[in-house]
Amino acid sequence: MTRTGSLALALLLAVSAPARAQAPPAPGTAPIQADDERMLPVLASHGMVSSQEARASRVGVEILRQGGNAVDAAVAVGFALAVTLPRAGNLGGGGFMMVHLAARNETVAIDYRETAPAAATETMFLGPDGEPDRAASTRTGKAVGVPGTVRGLAEAHRLYGSGRLSLVDLIAPAERLAREGIPVEAGLADSLPRASGLLGQWPSSRAIFFSGDRTLQRGETLVQRDLADTLRAVAEGGPDAFYRGPVAARIAAAVQGAGGVMTEADLAAYRPETRLPVRGTYRGYDIVSMPPPSSGGVHLIEILNVLEGFDLAGMGAGSAAALHTLAEAMKPAYADRATWLGDPARTRVPVKGLIAKPYADALRAAIDPERARPAEAVKAGDPLPFEHTETTHFSVVDAEGNAVSNTYTLNFSYGIGLVAEGTGVLLNNEMDDFSAKTGARNAYGLVGGAANAVAPGARPLSSMTPTFVFRDGRLLLVTGSPGGSRIITTVLQVIVNVLDFRMNLAEAVAAPRIHHQWQPDVLLAEEGLSPDTLAILRSRGHKVKVGPSSGSANSVMRVDGLLAGASDPRQRGTLADGY
Ligand code: DON
Repeated sequence: MTRTGSLALALLLAVSAPARAQAPPAPGTAPIQADDERMLPVLASHGMVSSQEARASRVGVEILRQGGNAVDAAVAVGFALAVTLPRAGNLGGGGFMMVHLAARNETVAIDYRETAPAAATETMFLGPDGEPDRAASTRTGKAVGVPGTVRGLAEAHRLYGSGRLSLVDLIAPAERLAREGIPVEAGLADSLPRASGLLGQWPSSRAIFFSGDRTLQRGETLVQRDLADTLRAVAEGGPDAFYRGPVAARIAAAVQGAGGVMTEADLAAYRPETRLPVRGTYRGYDIVSMPPPSSGGVHLIEILNVLEGFDLAGMGAGSAAALHTLAEAMKPAYADRATWLGDPARTRVPVKGLIAKPYADALRAAIDPERARPAEAVKAGDPLPFEHTETTHFSVVDAEGNAVSNTYTLNFSYGIGLVAEGTGVLLNNEMDDFSAKTGARNAYGLVGGAANAVAPGARPLSSMTPTFVFRDGRLLLVTGSPGGSRIITTVLQVIVNVLDFRMNLAEAVAAPRIHHQWQPDVLLAEEGLSPDTLAILRSRGHKVKVGPSSGSANSVMRVDGLLAGASDPRQRGTLADGY
């Protein structure tokens, strides 16, 4: 259906369907408390960092203590995670950083998403049979997008850092962790054996992550000397030390050696983009999030707009009624994503239309409070995989109220598993986020359209959703998550848990989550929802599938004059820490 067609249908339904949604309740009246007798967030008065890896969180807190602002701390955390959380923290990937500057009351979005190399073509991921070749877009050099992280972090520091700390100061802790080594424990010990096949196929990766014929085991030490040297080069020479010269030459050679088309010229040409965030409102709160080429902010706001017309608080957290409503609100957003979203430099994304309240009214009117709507007919394929966390999100707030919400990634855990020889840099497989072919699904089961076709220099469509929530112009919440297609609904549920269900931040992050992405037509549920709730959802027509958890929504919230931090208990080794 065309865009005009789907909007017209939605508006028609809005007029003809009985108004089932209830009027929005007054913005929550129960106070949000910093402390209570339930699962508790960490509290601090000056600054807070919540990330997926404890050492990196502590690096960020130390930078804040030294007088760095939230951006300085975030840049240091970003470099540290490349060392301590190598499956997702990275120099060889890309991401998005939302920055809030309290004194200027300004929020900006830094897009340091990877780009397609100049020699990329629309059909590069089609096999001889004309069908998508998943191996090519996930496991070979062709999968690698031009990395954005180093220029992105350096640009954040240059534009929005405090000016009190240099890149050398911010990279030094990461370099030390890489050179001295870190014990293999927690999330690292969990993820390495799972990535053994991917890493083990490349001698340069084996040399770092293996001991003999197996990945490093719990209790052994991960030393990354080449990575330490690359970090030192960037600290001293700035991002050009990564994008030009020997490091760039080695990255291009590694990618080409693995069958890819990236050149040194592609690396030299890479630029991050500073963008205006996408903005919406929800029950009197302002939602400020990542615009295209992420679909995250647009669809977060689209879904919240639909939910605003329902009394979720009255239904109750975890109730079948609330979960049904959430699932039905998610479906049309993912249908829109498949059609409309792509790189705004190459396709006109109808952001305004998608986040308009009247559009949400129409979508809401089409929701049956008693019955699940079947997803539109697309051949049911392989069931949606439950992905382990591979991207990573961290949130930082400083004493002045500046804040950073950053999500970055190699796409899969450890990307394609290939370390560019001599650099310590693991390479991403972000090219799989393009649509290999209209209607084809990517690794997350997401359907893609022409708007997200591969093209030279294009940025692949993302779901990453680094987000701020404000109340009366004052920052309330910083959140985001990994999880592939489930990122948007993870962020959504953290927000709804806080704003509608009045959970404290620790509970909001920990509460079991659901996910529906329209196609495949499956309602994914984490463990922890009651069997009778699931039975009610099934009786309403939902194809419920209970599976492992997803996401790592490491978040910070301002409450009662304090900072509350919560790291996601779904991963080992996460930490919210402050001072
Ligand atoms: O940008 C995106 O949407 C994906 N590359 C994110 C991948 C991800 O979150 C993997 N972790 N579960």
